[in-house]
Amino acid sequence: MPDFFLPGVLTLVVLGLLAFFGYMVYAAVSGAPFWPLAPDAVGKLIASAGLDPRDTLVDLGSGDGRILEAAAPYVRSAVGFEINPFLCWWSRFRLRHYPHVRVLRRSFWGENLSGATVVTLFFIPGKMDKLAHKLLAELAPGTRIVSAGFQFPGWHYEKKDGTVYLYLVPPAPEAAPPN
Ligand SMILES: C[S@@+](CC[C@H](N)C(=O)[O-])C[C@H]1O[C@@H](n2cnc3c(N)ncnc32)[C@H](O)[C@@H]1O
Repeated sequence: MPDFFLPGVLTLVVLGLLAFFGYMVYAAVSGAPFWPLAPDAVGKLIASAGLDPRDTLVDLGSGDGRILEAAAPYVRSAVGFEINPFLCWWSRFRLRHYPHVRVLRRSFWGENLSGATVVTLFFIPGKMDKLAHKLLAELAPGTRIVSAGFQFPGWHYEKKDGTVYLYLVPPAPEAAPPN
């Protein structure tokens, strides 16, 4: 084995770890750091969403793809937005047998989510209010939103299972009649 092999591999590993944790910091600033949802909560989230074959699911901050993988057999299509490229690569590999599921390496803040019939998320309390405004502005009435772990401040949930909350986007307020 050449002398430079081991130091070279170690350098790559250290650089990879530094980059991974750098993206964790970026994710924490942009939304939430990577913290995988426990398997039983994933099961509750999927059950609460009431998925059906006409659904287009959007997962906000899809992490290692566990929610997408659990939802894949039940939906027409699914998209995960994830800013950490390492997690994108891993989840694309994990989801390679589901061509109707995509993982996009983009921040969801800049995306229009209006095509979704179901939105799933496991985020952080400090961003739920900002997220609530975005979802209300973009999603059609009746769209299901399933949040694991945290509630939207001031919203009434339709159903709660443990710490998984199902919300329905309310009908748009009626325009005031002309005078
Ligand atoms: C708490 S983790 C949840 C991961 C996964 N959904 C799960 O349930 O296991 C939050 C994820 O959101 C990602 N994230 C944070 N801000 C984001 C943003 N603006 N756009 C896309 N992904 C983001 C993080 O990189 C992280 O993977």
